[in-house]
Amino acid sequence: MTRRFLFVLGSSRSDGNTELLARRAAEQLPEDVEQQWIDLSEQPLPDFEDLRHDSDHVRPTEGNVGLLFDATVAATDIVIASPLYWYTLSAPAKRYLDYWSGWLRTPGVDFKKTMAGRTLWGVTALSDHEPSVADPLIGALNNSAAYMGMRFGGVLLGNGSKPGDVLNDTGALTRAKTFFQGEAPLARFPFEG
Ligand SMILES: Cc1cc2nc3c(=O)[nH]c(=O)nc-3n(C[C@H](O)[C@H](O)[C@H](O)COP(=O)(O)O)c2cc1C
Repeated sequence: MTRRFLFVLGSSRSDGNTELLARRAAEQLPEDVEQQWIDLSEQPLPDFEDLRHDSDHVRPTEGNVGLLFDATVAATDIVIASPLYWYTLSAPAKRYLDYWSGWLRTPGVDFKKTMAGRTLWGVTALSDHEPSVADPLIGALNNSAAYMGMRFGGVLLGNGSKPGDVLNDTGALTRAKTFFQGEAPLARFPFEG
């Protein structure tokens, strides 16, 4: 299967540090790897409504939900590019993941089987100089990948407060060059050791 990367941008502003860092990493992908970029501030998802147990719950085809659904099932690699907000994912990025819960229960979709073995990655900008404060976000993505039977490539972290700051984080720019070449083992929950 040709690799196809879906970049889901979850910042609440455009041209922010998270996107800049994600684009630096994406520049290194080989030309035959397809890329699709969806900015959730331009293609917003409506509030997630929990219809998992309603029988008339159907595969989404319309609007931004349909767009995100189609893009997700078409991707071999999903990159959640979310700034660190309150030590975790931004609300738009979190809402996108909430939709996965609905898709898991959508009749005829078999979302879990479709996504199993594919790879989840994260890219995050944060203003704190202590990277470990991003552990809740990293844990949320790792555990989500483990739940889905997906691979997890880890999270590329970059420092910055105002847009453009991350371009001064030389360590992050160096890590961006090889980030997507990194290993992405099958994700495991921490209790699995
Ligand atoms: C709502 C909000 C919450 C934030 N929470 C954190 C935080 O918990 N830790 C941190 O280091 N930075 C925090 N920041 C700073 C952002 O992570 C930082 O400005 C980052 O560069 C934003 O990414 P962006 O440029 O891609 O939008 C927060 C910013 C906002 C707007």
